[in-house]
Amino acid sequence: MLRIEGLTVAYGGIEAVRGVSLDVAEGELVTIVGNNGAGKTTTLMAISGVAPIRSGRIVIDGAETTRLAPHAIVARGVAHCPEGRLVFGRLTVHENLRLGAYQRKDGASVRQDIDRVYALFPRLLERRTQLAGTLSGGEQQMLAIGRALMSRPRLLMLDEPSLGLAPLIVQRIFGVIRQLHAEGVTILLVEQNAHLALTVADRAYVLETGEVRLAGSAKALIDNPEVRRAYLSQ
Ligand SMILES: Nc1ncnc2c1ncn2[C@@H]1O[C@H](COP(=O)(O)OP(=O)(O)O)[C@@H](O)[C@H]1O
Ligand SMILES: [Mg+2]
Repeated sequence: MLRIEGLTVAYGGIEAVRGVSLDVAEGELVTIVGNNGAGKTTTLMAISGVAPIRSGRIVIDGAETTRLAPHAIVARGVAHCPEGRLVFGRLTVHENLRLGAYQRKDGASVRQDIDRVYALFPRLLERRTQLAGTLSGGEQQMLAIGRALMSRPRLLMLDEPSLGLAPLIVQRIFGVIRQLHAEGVTILLVEQNAHLALTVADRAYVLETGEVRLAGSAKALIDNPEVRRAYLSQ
């Protein structure tokens, strides 16, 4: 579904991502783990067409998207749930969900999908008329995921969904990520919490200072001594 070949992204003179290659098959849950500053967010931004790609190729469903505009990449079926949630604080929960479907013309099924998001996250249904800016961090994360689902993505990209949230809320959000994976949604998950990410993923890439340092099945990486020492030590 997604293939990245030799991706290099540079902010001015600084290469944040250097020669990264990775792929995600249909229905897979693949995670990119790595410390702060490793280039995880930049990789997702490049896929979405909002980071300055210097070289390399990105192919989605067999067609190159490397230099497409962000809205055209959304139209190819990519949804990006960004780091820090970035919900529209002065709009209601319901309005945020409707905006997630802004490229769709099928009103009846948009309404069905909003109901599906409310079924996944009953908290959002309770708060449907509340301004998003007044939600808790966990609720905002649920809303950001729900909004991303509203485009009916073929590839759902999640950037640090656990960041700054209480353990119980993280469990709930990861329960939904597991459920989406079980329903066949293809997911690319970026996480600093390697333990959590490797527990839900099929495969993983470890990014270090902009380069892929290790790759393999999540199971193999959990048992890898280098990964245990560097990322799973607490
Ligand atoms: N907009 C930007 N301008 C300049 N440098 C940036 C920008 N965004 C990220 N960087 C730098 O790129 C590197 C990778 O950052 P990022 O992709 O955010 O890493 P991660 O998500 O893994 O924490 C870091 O050194 C960061 O400081
Ligand atoms: Mg990041």
